[in-house]
Amino acid sequence: MYSRLALILFPLTLVAGQQFATLTAETHPSLTWQTCTAPGSCTTNNGKVVLDSNWRWLHSVNGSTNCYTGNTWDATLCPDDATCAANCALDGADYTGTYGVTATGSSLKLDFVTGKNVGSRLYLLSDDEHYQMFNMLNQEFTFDVDVSNLPCGLNGALYMSGMVADGGVAQYPTNKAGAKYGVGYCDSQCPRDLKFINGQANVEGWAPSSNSVNTGIGNHGSCCAEMDIWEANSISTALTPHAADTPQQTMCTGDTCGGTYSTSRYAGTTDPDGCDFNSYRMGNTTFYGPKMTVDTTSKFTVVTQFLTDDGTPNGTLSEIKRFYVQNGVVIPNSQSNVAGVTGNSITTAFCDAQKIAFNNTNGFETHGGLTSMSKAFVDGMVLVMSLWDDYYANALWLDSDYPTDAGASTPGIARGTCPTNSGVPAQVESSAASAYVIYENIKVGAINSTFAAGS
Ligand SMILES: *[C@@H]1O[C@H](CO)[C@@H](O)[C@H](O)[C@H]1NC(C)=O
Ligand SMILES: *[C@@H]1O[C@H](CO)[C@@H](O)[C@H](O)[C@H]1NC(C)=O
Ligand SMILES: *[C@@H]1O[C@H](CO)[C@@H](O)[C@H](O)[C@H]1NC(C)=O
Ligand SMILES: *[C@@H]1O[C@H](CO)[C@@H](O)[C@H](O)[C@H]1NC(C)=O
Ligand SMILES: *[C@@H]1O[C@H](CO)[C@@H](O)[C@H](O)[C@H]1NC(C)=O
Repeated sequence: MYSRLALILFPLTLVAGQQFATLTAETHPSLTWQTCTAPGSCTTNNGKVVLDSNWRWLHSVNGSTNCYTGNTWDATLCPDDATCAANCALDGADYTGTYGVTATGSSLKLDFVTGKNVGSRLYLLSDDEHYQMFNMLNQEFTFDVDVSNLPCGLNGALYMSGMVADGGVAQYPTNKAGAKYGVGYCDSQCPRDLKFINGQANVEGWAPSSNSVNTGIGNHGSCCAEMDIWEANSISTALTPHAADTPQQTMCTGDTCGGTYSTSRYAGTTDPDGCDFNSYRMGNTTFYGPKMTVDTTSKFTVVTQFLTDDGTPNGTLSEIKRFYVQNGVVIPNSQSNVAGVTGNSITTAFCDAQKIAFNNTNGFETHGGLTSMSKAFVDGMVLVMSLWDDYYANALWLDSDYPTDAGASTPGIARGTCPTNSGVPAQVESSAASAYVIYENIKVGAINSTFAAGS
């Protein structure tokens, strides 16, 4: 993904820096998911989800004075990063009422606009203090998705990030909130809109956003490898691994962070572009969309396989394959129709050929490629489920012509049928306020164990 801006709501309720407060009790919604060994042999796990800390009310530890209002920090409570972390507490979340997040059985529904709140980002927990960690090597990840109510400009994203299991509590003792309050996010853009990183606040150097009333950018960013299993709306979808020199979470400083939030996109230690497979961009314009081969007007299943070079979990990631299942039919991913690029899966050869065909910087290889993703999985990755709009590029990189100053017929520019003037947050938050995404029936297991591969 190109950017992922956290939109926050502040208001009504309260925990702590990186302290936590309990004006609202933090009750994690339950979400079941399955582990499979063979088709029909699945066991159910009783997981929970937690809302990312950036969306939460942040207030004085022993009171209810806002530490952060709109896109500005309170100068008294937050004169610097360390003091702010000691003075301020994250509070519990009213998941449905404030954030439009509803979990039922194995189904998670994320509403786009709820009152003043826009979008959300959630993580799967194994218990109330720890994220569920995934190593997908020689495994597959399957889920059902409903994108029928996601128009141009929105991104319903299900992906994995190199966060640590406890959200950083053990490494950074000033971080008292941890995974329980959704702390510790990182991705390949090295986001600098986070309010806390590595046990300290991000107030020093904070510049409020010019086009978002809720966000800003601080001097620090939080980097890691990222496996974008699914970034999509009803028009376009992309499958994108992003490598990183250090796959697990690390803090960066200033514009050397690189990525969307920094002036020099390629200055950092991560790969902000990734190696993407978007069927439309790869030349099949009738494969994914309303009433197309994969019909986005109704629910379907997304299967992603992480194959290794030796066919064991000890091998190195060599191929990422995609299948869809809809109405009982298994649909292999579309093949590339781009000159010089073959295949329908992500391999090193595909990525190298695609970067050349599209004349794009090959940051994926520079930062370790599939070997880096392998290391990220061995370290363990956290499952992220989100819904967002894009204050940097209007999601045009996903569903339109991007960059907009190149001709749409130039290889790699056309990514979907959305107009180049679509996806403006102020517009979609008004015109598509009632948009939502549903993720359900998550299954993880051996290759071909989570769906009827033979059918
Ligand atoms: C909050 O209250 C506790 C208990 O009274 C006290 O120990 C602590 O210093 C207070 N913290 C702040 C930042 O005022
Ligand atoms: C993976 O490596 C470990 C340790 O080297 C070994 O015990 C295990 O049998 C290997 N697993 C497979 C599936 O090859
Ligand atoms: C697009 O994909 C579908 C399904 O695989 C296939 O039938 C069709 O021929 C493809 N179109 C092009 C232009 O490759
Ligand atoms: C490829 O990209 C580089 C750098 O962005 C640019 O200078 C060059 O003109 C491009 N080449 C073609 C053939 O478009
Ligand atoms: C999975 O199923 C496909 C299609 O039937 C088959 O080609 C492949 O070899 C299977 N892989 C494994 C590891 O069973």
